[in-house]
Amino acid sequence: MKIAVSGKGGVGKTLIAGGLAFFFVQKGLKTIAIDADPSPNLALTLGMSPDEARLIQPISENAELIESKTKTGYSGVFRLSFTVDDIIRQYSIKTPLGPNLLVMGTVKSMGAGCTCPANAVIRAILRHFVDEQGCAVVVDMEAGVEHMGRGTAERVDKMLIVADAGLKALETARHIHHLASEAGMKRVFLIGNKIGNRVQQEAITHFAERNGLKVLGFVPFDPKVAEAEIDGRSPLLDKTSEAVCAIENLGDKLTSNLIE
Ligand SMILES: Nc1ncnc2c1ncn2[C@@H]1O[C@H](COP(=O)(O)OP(=O)(O)O)[C@@H](O)[C@H]1O
Ligand SMILES: [Mg+2]
Repeated sequence: MKIAVSGKGGVGKTLIAGGLAFFFVQKGLKTIAIDADPSPNLALTLGMSPDEARLIQPISENAELIESKTKTGYSGVFRLSFTVDDIIRQYSIKTPLGPNLLVMGTVKSMGAGCTCPANAVIRAILRHFVDEQGCAVVVDMEAGVEHMGRGTAERVDKMLIVADAGLKALETARHIHHLASEAGMKRVFLIGNKIGNRVQQEAITHFAERNGLKVLGFVPFDPKVAEAEIDGRSPLLDKTSEAVCAIENLGDKLTSNLIE
């Protein structure tokens, strides 16, 4: 199972991507969480301290890896003879919550036209997991739509678009859905996050109906998420958090084949 989590900045992509990765690990799946945001912070959500997170060297900055794994001597042509298991063994970090984390760093564009080596690495990782059983890959995507080319969309099974009830978040969601559909993706789902009342939930439901999007589910606004972050704890460890329970519910739907 390969899942990408996208949406406007600040809507809750990282919380939800981290929450799903944590859920999959608890279900016994070998789980890789890929932080593809140029300002990465998935490590913190997966229980690492800021000091630990700062020490992670992103794939895009790991010149040695990129050079040795991809260089062919022809510009724009990269050799992908390394095994993805090697990359995961050498460059991913086992987080306190369980998922193995890979931080991509500044990757210019994940679109089809981009031939940068870091991109070749992430595509190889996604390709590698095509038929792998008992594995889950969750990609915490860059905010917005610019990165949304065929390159990424073709290689994930499900695209989750996170939005709150705000117009801007929904407009970005519409745009991402459009691009994902153009790229041929069939399994695109909307997640309504930070839901504070019925009106907000209805606004998202109506938006989804108007735009032909399926809603995977809703996550309530939960002050415990912010409290945990202020205390420097992962919000995901708070089993009394309604938001965390709702994310587990989303994970259940994704793993139980209830949705197609
Ligand atoms: N359901 C929620 N309830 C309360 N706060 C939330 C919720 N989801 C996200 N947040 C908060 O909103 C902010 C943005 O969330 P984040 O996951 O970093 O978004 P993104 O990755 O989309 O930029 C964070 O401070 C996070 O704690
Ligand atoms: Mg984020």
